[in-house]
Amino acid sequence: MAAGGAIHMTSGPFVSIRDVHKSYGSLKVINGISFDIAQGEVLVLCGPSGCGKSTLLRCMNGLERIDGGDIIVGGVNVARASSEELQHVRMSTGLVFQNFNLFPHMTVLRNIALAPIKIKGMPASDAEALAHLLLESVGIPEKADEFPFRLSGGQRQRVAIARALAMEPKLMLFDEPTSALDPEMREEVLQVIRHVHDVHGMTMVVVTHEIGFAKSVASRAMLVESGKIVEEAPARTFFEHPKEERTRRFVQAIVNE
Ligand SMILES: Nc1ncnc2c1ncn2[C@@H]1O[C@H](COP(=O)(O)OP(=O)(O)OP(=O)(O)O)[C@@H](O)[C@H]1O
Ligand SMILES: [Mg+2]
Repeated sequence: MAAGGAIHMTSGPFVSIRDVHKSYGSLKVINGISFDIAQGEVLVLCGPSGCGKSTLLRCMNGLERIDGGDIIVGGVNVARASSEELQHVRMSTGLVFQNFNLFPHMTVLRNIALAPIKIKGMPASDAEALAHLLLESVGIPEKADEFPFRLSGGQRQRVAIARALAMEPKLMLFDEPTSALDPEMREEVLQVIRHVHDVHGMTMVVVTHEIGFAKSVASRAMLVESGKIVEEAPARTFFEHPKEERTRRFVQAIVNE
């Protein structure tokens, strides 16, 4: 275990999910899932609505407790972590949702600078300088003083990504980051995610049905259904030559969406 519970670079997989089970009451959502994610890898997670994709992401950063199994992130077992260790895992994990979740009463700059100031104790001037740099890197430096309601959906999602990056995460979890956007904005946001990975190289899990993005950025793709992994393969193989009939039907359905 790392000193102070901080997540750290490991020689083995960066994330290790072992026989994870999770139910809500009598509803079994995750039913014995196991997989690893290597350091710096981008994993695309697919599956029909309600199959547990968001739940799995929330379990990975300890927002949800699991009922059985282990989730090890950067050497910390999230399933058995103390509250101090969990806090470190959350601080080192960026989570970007479908619906942006920006603070509406704060400027873009403040949205990004808030967590470094409040959680890391960074001086406000440093956090604001960092926020300006991150806005450059997501391509909207001119929006620093705007409020979220005056931004397009694509711009809001860029702010959400910059806000996650402000905590210098070692793991980024994206939950359908483009599904609330129109096709043009989708492409913009996918480019930003691609750029973030090129520049920062952190480990990423992306819940998305964007096949072009998945094939060009992800190293692996996985289909989950009924709480189990149906198929897991290198991204290109997964989308172009899936082994399982279920995956073939799923890929066909998203092509036709
Ligand atoms: N907090 C909760 N309490 C009770 N049931 C929940 C809770 N969160 C999720 N569920 C249920 O767990 C199942 C999996 O939900 P989850 O949101 O993980 O699915 P998903 O794969 O992300 O779906 P979608 O593609 O629609 O986002 C669903 O049946 C959902 O209704
Ligand atoms: Mg979901």
